[in-house]
Amino acid sequence: MSEWWRGGVIYQIYPRSFQDSNNDGIGDLRGITERLDYVAKLGVDGIWISPIFTSPMKDMGYDVSDYRDIDPLFGTLEDFDKLLERAHSLGLKVMIDQVLSHSSDQHPFFEQSRQDRNNDKSDWYVWVNPLPSGNPPNNWLSIFEGMAWEWESRRKQYYQHNFLVSQPDFNFHNPEVRKWLLSNVRFWLERGVDGFRLDTVNYYFHDQQLRNNPPRKEAVEHPPVNPYYMQDHVHSISQPENIDFVEDLRALLDEFGDTAMVGEISNLDLMAEYTAGSNRLHLAYSFELLGPIFSAKHVRKCIEHFFNIAQKGIPCWSFSNHDVIRHVSRWASLGSTPEALAKQTAALLLSLEGSICLFQGEELGQLETKIEFEELKDPVGLRFWPKNKGRDGCRTPMSWDSGLPYKEFSKNEPWLPVKSPQVSRSAKQQENDQNSVLSFYRRMIWFRQNSDSLRQGKTTFFETDEPVLAFSRKTEEENIICVFNLSKEEVSIEVEHLKHSETYPKFNAKLDTKKLILGANGFHFFIPDSDNDVVIKYP
Ligand code: BGC
Repeated sequence: MSEWWRGGVIYQIYPRSFQDSNNDGIGDLRGITERLDYVAKLGVDGIWISPIFTSPMKDMGYDVSDYRDIDPLFGTLEDFDKLLERAHSLGLKVMIDQVLSHSSDQHPFFEQSRQDRNNDKSDWYVWVNPLPSGNPPNNWLSIFEGMAWEWESRRKQYYQHNFLVSQPDFNFHNPEVRKWLLSNVRFWLERGVDGFRLDTVNYYFHDQQLRNNPPRKEAVEHPPVNPYYMQDHVHSISQPENIDFVEDLRALLDEFGDTAMVGEISNLDLMAEYTAGSNRLHLAYSFELLGPIFSAKHVRKCIEHFFNIAQKGIPCWSFSNHDVIRHVSRWASLGSTPEALAKQTAALLLSLEGSICLFQGEELGQLETKIEFEELKDPVGLRFWPKNKGRDGCRTPMSWDSGLPYKEFSKNEPWLPVKSPQVSRSAKQQENDQNSVLSFYRRMIWFRQNSDSLRQGKTTFFETDEPVLAFSRKTEEENIICVFNLSKEEVSIEVEHLKHSETYPKFNAKLDTKKLILGANGFHFFIPDSDNDVVIKYP
């Protein structure tokens, strides 16, 4: 088995916004297939496609109403088969999203379940009686809207929803539910997919005693924009039974050979637990580098903490995705220019130990789009505006060619606007420019893919202060030293026994025997000239 996922690079495609082929302003599967050459040219191992299944799209597809079909907006099963075939012929693996913890309220099983307490599907979702006061049974909150409980007058009961009211949670304590969900996953494996991104993988089970969640121990801004972050969700999610189901999923995938699953998990300890042994997740997708903090200390803490506690587990790092502000905007205060920051963050991300997920458009150095209230589509933005503007700003369509109408994404007005900062960073205009962010991403991915130590090597950090981050990535055969200045100010670093190589990436950097000068967002990769004596000192 190639174990392509181990240390691999996965490119996330948000289907609504990648390429529209039928000119309805929304991206689709045929569109993705047309653009696969572009993806393959990046040099990545595979793609992860966000949900494409039948859905009322209240949460843009993360609310599934048919787990075995494609939403007509995106195409048909035949279109999917063609996409798969083309991707495989280009050497790309295909991972699809599986949203198993909840369905849409328009899923026929929920429509049936909500009718009364005695139907075939009555126990398929989490139904509970009200307290004598009429209140829900406990304090569990939903991430997207208020309490995690919604009243159903026909059953005179509440149902649980960790996300939107229209995303009811499955009752995983019911073995029939688990069996059926596994059969849906099998359906896609038999169709030929190479793996899955598992949405909210630790949200499957709930505490059957329905105990209250305690207040969160770690300090948070009080009250935060979303009160969800004031609780420790020890009873509503992350139950021990969850791991057993992950093991069932793994056993299923193992029947199909070289497949992989990457599960979305909220913290480093759970990431380690969910990847322990070879019978759980292949990769744990981390949130740790998707937040506001970008510092040498933070990056080092994440890597060291995970590998100190993980038993052979593999993390999957990313800086941007469809749920967060694009990183070049999020960390803008640390970049001398967006392009310098985009190159530096690409170099850093692609030299981290673990696997890597890139989000469409980041290879162009795309910024977050400024969205007006009237343009909003995301329920999160609509609910928490103006403090949280929602997720539309990172989901705007790809800008392929600045010279063409709707930037070659569509021939009609796209579902979200493409604005000038995005247009000025179009793919076509960067294609042949050796200094573009796109060209840099291609070179950096190539560098990682051709280096055993960047894909598989162990990490050792050098003792440096902010804003300098320095580490080595080492296998028995190869050792690469990576040094970054995560700031806009020039720094002078004392170095010894570092050899320069023409083919190694560097940016805004000067090496003068024992002195490395890194300008704003500078970085330099080296070969050590003697393994044990490398010195990197800052300040
Ligand atoms: C997905 C979100 C989605 C949520 C509910 C998340 O982890 O990434 O986009 O809204 O799960 O399914």
